[in-house]
Amino acid sequence: MAYHTISLVVNGVEEQLQVPSQMTLLHALREGLGYTGTKNGCEAGECGACTVLVDGEPTNSCLVLAVELDGREITTIEGLAEDGKLSALQQAFVDLNAVQCGYCTPGMLMAATALLKRNPHPDEREIQEALVGNLCRCTGYQRIIDAVQLAAGKGGAQ
Ligand code: FES
Ligand code: FES
Repeated sequence: MAYHTISLVVNGVEEQLQVPSQMTLLHALREGLGYTGTKNGCEAGECGACTVLVDGEPTNSCLVLAVELDGREITTIEGLAEDGKLSALQQAFVDLNAVQCGYCTPGMLMAATALLKRNPHPDEREIQEALVGNLCRCTGYQRIIDAVQLAAGKGGAQ
């Protein structure tokens, strides 16, 4: 099996690791670097639980090979809080009980963070479109949409 040494800038910190050719970003983050906040749902691009930001763009980490991302910037759920303080979006999820089992939550937060950065005041339809690739089995989605709108009213993702 061929191994490659790559570097990833994860949440602002440069990390070097060795990855086999076929290792996805999802496994490199979770098993290679210990960023277990990124969840493994379907490993088929269907559920969005594994969503991270690659150079700011929401990306299903189960669908991209780590070796293809040498030198790129990755943001995971562990990178949203600053100095121990939740982002406005994370706090809105807590305040509106937009979390039940929590398995979809990291992916939802990453996708919604990207939305609020490119569109600080999305309407309900725009939020639905941004989160269409993120499945939730528990909440019925409305509280998640409400939480994104609450965060938007408080100045966006941060
Ligand atoms: S685990 Fe990647 S989309 Fe489901
Ligand atoms: S809170 Fe359980 S899957 Fe969304």
